[in-house]
Amino acid sequence: MASGYKFIEAIEKHAGLLGICIAIMVSIGGLAEITPLFMKAHSLEAPAGVKPYDALRLAGRDIYVREGCYLCHSQMIRAQRFEVQRYGAHSVASESVYDRPHQWGSKRTGPDLARVGGKYSDDWQRLHLLSPRKLVPESNMPNYPWLQDAEIDGADMQARMRTLRMLGDPYTDADIAGAPEAVKGKTELDAMVAYLQGLGTLNVDTSAPPAPGTPASSGQP
Ligand code: HEC
Repeated sequence: MASGYKFIEAIEKHAGLLGICIAIMVSIGGLAEITPLFMKAHSLEAPAGVKPYDALRLAGRDIYVREGCYLCHSQMIRAQRFEVQRYGAHSVASESVYDRPHQWGSKRTGPDLARVGGKYSDDWQRLHLLSPRKLVPESNMPNYPWLQDAEIDGADMQARMRTLRMLGDPYTDADIAGAPEAVKGKTELDAMVAYLQGLGTLNVDTSAPPAPGTPASSGQP
């Protein structure tokens, strides 16, 4: 005991040594927490039904990021009863495998959008983006009128899809070849509406009974 105490005393009296020992302990703790997450990220597979964004939705997603929609909207439904009752089945990590970067967030000036797809008509979404207060008078969401003027560039979308393919998204040659046709004549507003209408709808079969080990389809907190 006595020698153990002396050892501790020696460390405590030498700030440099104490610092080194603290750094070692923190590193071990950090590694124990972080390493499993890295391993898990690589083994995470997209659930059936989750596909990489098609060209138009991908364009919409990029506009969502560009416009900073995430500053007011999260896309992660927590596994808590009041969240699930308000927004639908809670989010799971595998739904976001093709989101780079993910849009989970925690800032909610507006509602969570993880499952907003299909909640409103395309026309509602369109008008709401152009002029939110025409539909929700008390809204403080900005107007985004410029989205209806800018067109989507097909070649640009092909380049983005090729880059995502390099990072592992399973786009086929046909997906990429078809991109210019898919976005031809479409505006940023069309792309944004397509993106919003897809949120949550491709990912979860909420009508199915909960299968063991698939929390996304349980609909329960
Ligand atoms: C300054 C904060 C703010 C920003 C930025 C913002 N929103 Fe909103 N948004 C809100 C608020 C508040 C509401 C709720 C009132 C309403 O429906 O307008 C809302 C509602 C919505 C809804 C309806 C959600 C529902 O379930 O009823 C959608 C869809 C939406 N926003 C999309 C977007 C998109 C897309 C962008 C970026 C182009 C964006 N928002 C940027 C604040 C914001």
